[in-house]
Amino acid sequence: MDLSVLHQITYGMYVVGVNDNGRPAGCVINTLCQITSENPTIAISMNKNNYTFAVIERTKRFSISILSEDTNPNIIAGFGFRSGKDTDKFAGTSYTMEDNLPLLREAFCGGLLCDVISMTDMETHMVIIARLRDTIAGTHKNPMTYSYYHRVIKGKAPKNAPTYQEEKESDSVNLRYTCSVCGWVYEGDINREPEDYVCPICGAPKSAFKKL
Ligand SMILES: Cc1cc2nc3c(=O)[nH]c(=O)nc-3n(C[C@H](O)[C@H](O)[C@H](O)COP(=O)(O)O)c2cc1C
Repeated sequence: MDLSVLHQITYGMYVVGVNDNGRPAGCVINTLCQITSENPTIAISMNKNNYTFAVIERTKRFSISILSEDTNPNIIAGFGFRSGKDTDKFAGTSYTMEDNLPLLREAFCGGLLCDVISMTDMETHMVIIARLRDTIAGTHKNPMTYSYYHRVIKGKAPKNAPTYQEEKESDSVNLRYTCSVCGWVYEGDINREPEDYVCPICGAPKSAFKKL
């Protein structure tokens, strides 16, 4: 089966927010779609290993912040490559609590407050169906698509993302580079990136990357 065909499916970019006993937590997702318009419902796919999923399972509530193309890549890196179990990912970001759920206010296109209706077990992931309790208007236009994140920001997806696909060995020949400024690891052949490529975490130039 040619799994690269799945790359033709389109998605958006979002931060799921949860209330972990009064502490804001959350993570990046791309797998969200609207299911119904009257009494609106949405579905998201969450990896069971994500701490955010554990909190959703416990509290049955979450928020969605719809990211715009202007979102700082550091936000995506911070929410998409670290666990919120011991880290306060919202620290240093601009966010508000809406109905006790955190909404990321950085260049965002809008927010959704959601109550879980049901969950379907898909082995590694759980598909979560939720009803909208409320919506919050955003400050930015141009929601970021998953394709924009890959094409323009040159971002990657970790293994927990439902759409993750391992790079073919012939593509990357197991090459890995580390950013000498922040230590972030680039998987693949960095020489295929344009000269103006910068580290998605700290913004260091391509020349700061050292081969591992
Ligand atoms: C671009 C991108 C898309 C992602 N999409 C999803 C997704 O749809 N579902 C999911 O469960 N994890 C997704 N992830 C992975 C989580 O954001 C990541 O595992 C995060 O570290 C989980 O944090 P937590 O343990 O605090 O919940 C994505 C990450 C990135 C960078």
